[in-house]
Amino acid sequence: MSNNKVYTAVSIHSFRNVTRDITFDLYLKISDDNYAHVFSRTTGLDYKRLASYSGKGVTELFIRAEDKGLYDIFISRTAESIFADASTSQEKKIATLLNMTEQNMAEIFSQFDLGQETVDSSQKVIHNYVTLMTQEPKTLATILRLVSHGEYLYYHSIAVGIFSIILAKATGQFDQKTIEMVGLGGFFHDIGNSHLPREVYEKEQGLLVEQLDLKKTHCKLGLQMLENTPNVPDEVRWIVYQHHEEPGGRGYPNQLTASAIYYPAKIVGLVDEFSCLISQRPGRSALTADKAIEFLRSRPDQFDADLVKLLGSVFLRAMSQAA
Ligand SMILES: [Fe+2]
Repeated sequence: MSNNKVYTAVSIHSFRNVTRDITFDLYLKISDDNYAHVFSRTTGLDYKRLASYSGKGVTELFIRAEDKGLYDIFISRTAESIFADASTSQEKKIATLLNMTEQNMAEIFSQFDLGQETVDSSQKVIHNYVTLMTQEPKTLATILRLVSHGEYLYYHSIAVGIFSIILAKATGQFDQKTIEMVGLGGFFHDIGNSHLPREVYEKEQGLLVEQLDLKKTHCKLGLQMLENTPNVPDEVRWIVYQHHEEPGGRGYPNQLTASAIYYPAKIVGLVDEFSCLISQRPGRSALTADKAIEFLRSRPDQFDADLVKLLGSVFLRAMSQAA
């Protein structure tokens, strides 16, 4: 058996807010077939050493694959205790959620099939975001600040999940359960990319025609992944499949026009583009939120004009609260 199957990567950030006790051993990857045992379940974590790994650019530690269940329990208990503690700052709560979400995303992108456990924990995470945003109106500004750091591939999906929740809520048309479903659709919208070469899905411009065609298959690939996973609502599948359709009928994969596009897919498609625009990407700098809204407003064929207007008002309000 190769070492890739013996060890499973976990984000080093997931240990940032925990007590020193761990219920599994942790390893550092030295080379493809060499893993060093760095923290033990009997002696616990050493924060100085953990910080020095982080300082040297280490982003992942490894657990033995058979300890994955113990790790999942450990992470969800840590998150629960942080959430239950009234003295914990809101920023720390959000950072904890983001760490959990990042871990979920890393799992989704490292495996070709979505496991039921990943769907369950994503649902839990989305539920926590919705609860937090209901309690704390200033959450959005904090999330915006925190999401702008970190691995683009994961954080983009996290941002789209969160922004979708916010926009769905702002429409006033959905109950909490449906809002959570829209958030899950946002969270999973690009999972089909996990089947594509990184240079294809990360590049925004200058792709060859055949690369562009390949890139466009991510909607169908995502749908297929979700079809193989039980207990995923159909609505989430429609969002993943339709998030690149455009009101003017020039989107993909089916060139649907305005009224034929599933409304939550329009929400996710819009915040997907918004999140791209406000992030720094290779070859271009990040736009401010109001410049991004202005850009979206200039493209009524691509984005639902009423939703763009609503997105603008929600984000401008968040920015003024953050100021
Ligand atoms: Fe996409």
